[in-house]
Amino acid sequence: MSEPSAEQQEREEALVERVLTSFAGTPDPRTKELVEALTRHLHAFVRETRLTEAEWKRGIDFLTAVGHITDDRRQEFILLSDVLGVSMQTITVDNQAYANATEATVFGPFFVEGSPDVGLGGDVAGGARGEPCWVSGTVTDTDGSPVAGALVEVWEADADGQYDVQYGDDRVAGRGHLHTDDGGRYRFWAVTPTPYPIPDDGPVGELLRATGRSPMRASHLHLMVRAEGYRTLVTHVFPRGDAYLDSDSVFGVRDSLVVDVHQQIPTTPTPDGRDVAGPWARIDFDVVLAPAGHR
Ligand code: BEZ
Ligand code: FE
Repeated sequence: MSEPSAEQQEREEALVERVLTSFAGTPDPRTKELVEALTRHLHAFVRETRLTEAEWKRGIDFLTAVGHITDDRRQEFILLSDVLGVSMQTITVDNQAYANATEATVFGPFFVEGSPDVGLGGDVAGGARGEPCWVSGTVTDTDGSPVAGALVEVWEADADGQYDVQYGDDRVAGRGHLHTDDGGRYRFWAVTPTPYPIPDDGPVGELLRATGRSPMRASHLHLMVRAEGYRTLVTHVFPRGDAYLDSDSVFGVRDSLVVDVHQQIPTTPTPDGRDVAGPWARIDFDVVLAPAGHR
């Protein structure tokens, strides 16, 4: 496509300036900065792609469909932000690298407040289908001192790739919380994570299909760790060797979060003496918290 003429470029730039000027009186400086940057970037997108009116209408129709499918249980806008990598970019910007602090990743739509307190060594599976998996580690600060009493929230999909909130009944499974002991240690039973697709029966799924992308998430276990005086950490543990580590649909994988899953044969004694009928697995994962007040 040929370059627009000088006169055409002048007209386009004048419009950008007029819109920017319209926001000049925004009282809150941060709001002003955000609406001005949004204006600049949106106009640059339209001008760079030489967007047609029909294409803009298609875009508006798409966003309208995203709105229509969104309700209390389904947030298609977050899903859109996730598959565009915008959620992960925001997390990256807002949780900057701090010493050896554990990296953050996407929150996702399946966390539910008020999970059961399973206690140290308890079972977060709660009947979820899957191979039993013993998960243990420590929570420390960046100097290696234990963080006692840290809240560890865990949630995960079952072996069929379903979270309990997708079961269609009121069962609570694959979620729970516990607190670290005086040595900052935590441990619990869960199920070995398996891959699953993000909800793809809506406009975001349509976008993925139109662009030849897979809806699959790399296998993972969600962890959120909170303690007074520390930056809250929302992260995942990803089993090494998973088929989707390089193509996670929401760009959530960080190399530092990929861990070995140690498979155990059925006769191997469990760490807490629990009687496990078949094979089981174990994952060790140490969490390091950044101090509060650091982005
Ligand atoms: C999840 O891991 O639960 C998730 C994250 C982003 C989009 C959909 C699901
Ligand atoms: Fe998940």
